[in-house]
Amino acid sequence: MKNLFNLSSLSLDEINAILNRAQEFADGAVSDAGKGKVIGSLFFEPSTRTQNSYTMACYKLGANVITFNSEVSSMKKGETFYDTVKVFEEIGCSAVIIRDKQNEYWNQLKGLKMPVVSGGDGTGNHPTQSLLDLLTIKQEFGKFEGLKICIVGDVIHSRVAHTNIEVMERLGMEVYTSGPEEFREDGFKYIDFDTAVKEMDVIMLLRIQHERLSSEMVMSKEEYNKLYGLNAERVRAMKPHAIIMHPAPFNRGVEINDDCVECEKSRIFKQMHNGVFVRMAVVERALIGE
Ligand code: CP
Repeated sequence: MKNLFNLSSLSLDEINAILNRAQEFADGAVSDAGKGKVIGSLFFEPSTRTQNSYTMACYKLGANVITFNSEVSSMKKGETFYDTVKVFEEIGCSAVIIRDKQNEYWNQLKGLKMPVVSGGDGTGNHPTQSLLDLLTIKQEFGKFEGLKICIVGDVIHSRVAHTNIEVMERLGMEVYTSGPEEFREDGFKYIDFDTAVKEMDVIMLLRIQHERLSSEMVMSKEEYNKLYGLNAERVRAMKPHAIIMHPAPFNRGVEINDDCVECEKSRIFKQMHNGVFVRMAVVERALIGE
């Protein structure tokens, strides 16, 4: 059963196999791995990209999708997380896609027989976001080894940062973080943002995750934008071949200015485009895996 909860439990060979399959889908490969199957899509936290690109991936594999809405579900009558997910197994789903605010929510799902693929868990892991980030970097540079990336902003609350830092270091990338002190995390290399802008191959911006802050941000949005926001002047200071990434949703005028979102160096929408191919590879793996 090919669950996908995180990348840290996958070998580099397994990660490269998913990326290679995703690239085959990007190049036009087709698969009917989902034909006659139904996948449950259970997002207990809001999502635009992850949920809908998983749905698109399932459709492209020939599967149908049931989209669960916890707000109008029997969870409102006290049904537990496990019992809710178990319903989808019993009604005949071949796999489920789950996003939840609890870190490592899958520990509560032991005993399920159908595969679970993650759309993100709390501040812990976002494996398919990381895979689509890796696919985008590989398409751009053709390699990972030796590339320098700086992940900028709310690192401490970011499942994207946590997943990417672990796997990118394993792949031989030089990974730095930058941003306000309140969002820094011990154990990660820190670099001044304006130095990073000049030296990195990849600048990856993060959204401030207000929904995970226990109190109001110390720094104002205006101050944040001045110190850590990507603007046209900073883009001009980047290396000629360097690229801008962001998992999105992004806040225009805070971590990235309006005129940089779709500038020549931005790969933000390319990342979203690649999300479908990566999720096709992950769902296919879940459906046909041992
Ligand atoms: N990047 C990402 O996870 O976006 P959504 O929250 O819209 O799924």
